[in-house]
Amino acid sequence: MDAFQHTPEEIQQAIQQGPITTEYKADRQALITQLNRLRSTEIASHLQYKQHAYMAVSLLSPGLKGDFQAHADVELRHADILAERIQQLGGVPVFTPAEIAAKAAEVGVRPEQGATLTDMVVENLLIERQQVVAYTALIREIGDRDPTTHRLLMEILAETEKHASELADYLKRSAETRS
Ligand SMILES: [Fe+2]
Ligand SMILES: [Fe+2]
Repeated sequence: MDAFQHTPEEIQQAIQQGPITTEYKADRQALITQLNRLRSTEIASHLQYKQHAYMAVSLLSPGLKGDFQAHADVELRHADILAERIQQLGGVPVFTPAEIAAKAAEVGVRPEQGATLTDMVVENLLIERQQVVAYTALIREIGDRDPTTHRLLMEILAETEKHASELADYLKRSAETRS
């Protein structure tokens, strides 16, 4: 690569904008705000699953503690993927607890800890479904204006739907055993 064929302005612009080119069509600031909101829901979800893993000591469902822990790890990875993308787009990933709590609450997400295992699974299912709504809406909104963010969100959405499905299956199974 011969950088000296380019004007100093072109080189400055390349350094300033990194991956953002004239073909980038999304509203970057608005997208960063939305990605930070989603990141906050992932951190809230991570904390909720961790809490449930600490509290789920019932002999009735020995597998549930491990399931909560496994989901907690995935949520943290989702928060990481979003942070990396926010940084690439020139934004700052949300990181203070107060801001995270406020942004997650904007979409109705707050960590909760129910009294029973079933309550906890229901709480997790509800967060996952709120996230499915938020991711699906944003994916549709982005369309082809930012293919990389689009793809990352699709991957997270698929895992979020998988979680929701697993939790719903668990609740269906335990309802059958009770009846
Ligand atoms: Fe997640
Ligand atoms: Fe999840």
